[in-house]
Amino acid sequence: MDLVTIVDEQNNKYTYKRYKGYPFLQEVVGNVRDRLEEVANFNVREDDVLIGIFPKSGTHWLLNTILMLRSGSLKYHGTGLGIEFDDLKKIEDMPSPRTLVSHLRYRFLPEQMKLGKGKIVTLTRNPKDLVVSMHHMMQKMGDLGYQGNFEGFLKRFISEECFLGNGSWFSWIKDMEEWKTPNFLCLSYHDLKQNTFANVVKLAKFLELDHDEEFLRSVSENIQFDKLKESHEKTAPNDRWKHMSEEGRLPIYRKGKVGDWKNTFTVAQNEKFDRLFREKVEELGLKIDTKFE
Ligand code: A3P
Repeated sequence: MDLVTIVDEQNNKYTYKRYKGYPFLQEVVGNVRDRLEEVANFNVREDDVLIGIFPKSGTHWLLNTILMLRSGSLKYHGTGLGIEFDDLKKIEDMPSPRTLVSHLRYRFLPEQMKLGKGKIVTLTRNPKDLVVSMHHMMQKMGDLGYQGNFEGFLKRFISEECFLGNGSWFSWIKDMEEWKTPNFLCLSYHDLKQNTFANVVKLAKFLELDHDEEFLRSVSENIQFDKLKESHEKTAPNDRWKHMSEEGRLPIYRKGKVGDWKNTFTVAQNEKFDRLFREKVEELGLKIDTKFE
């Protein structure tokens, strides 16, 4: 494993871990190799649910929706435990049913899951919105591996040196689309926003949970952006995040909008991105719904 630091021509600074040709966030534990091995050999339980998601695609939104559904309560649960980031002993000791998170590309996920044990859920989001969201988060949190302007971040994001997804969003999605087992549900951010109730019903069905309509409607109301944001701000500070965020909680709930990229992308950046997007969809044969706003 190498710790890479790059300063580009505009003085933007990137720091990340690199292992076997893949870039990783510094937050991935230790030398990466050992943690990847532990994740691959992770002891999956039949009732585990893993949120396998590209960062900034709505991880907290999906996690808290699933946890409301699984707990049968409307309680806000905050930030979950990540199998590449957190203490594995703590994860192993969690009582069932566990709901876990990972931003790793799917090839690195637990082998037992690839054989169909447990369930895996994801949300896809317009990459333009998520790169903007991510850059805001990077600016707010001194220690995540990037300091610099949006132009530099966008360049990194579309390259295979994007350390948030062990490569670009495009190849991350390709990996996800190759997931073979039926224990997998893919929802989209814009559809969850537009048709919240229908997606909550779909999730409950996938999770084999038998809730009445009244409860499912309450969940739909309680996972709206303003509600989650308010609850997040009330959660107690956690030492886990103190080194990254003064408030002791991750700065997650910013705008929660579809199409916010329009406030950041220049016309030239947008044209370049659209061109690349078309090329990548074609080259990789991506099946993802590409009708992003
Ligand atoms: P923005 O920065 O665009 O506001 P993650 O949890 O993966 O880090 O994703 C964070 C993004 O999801 C943030 O995007 C956040 O506002 C958005 N988000 C969280 N809850 C949401 C909700 N209920 N509705 C819409 N967006 C939500």
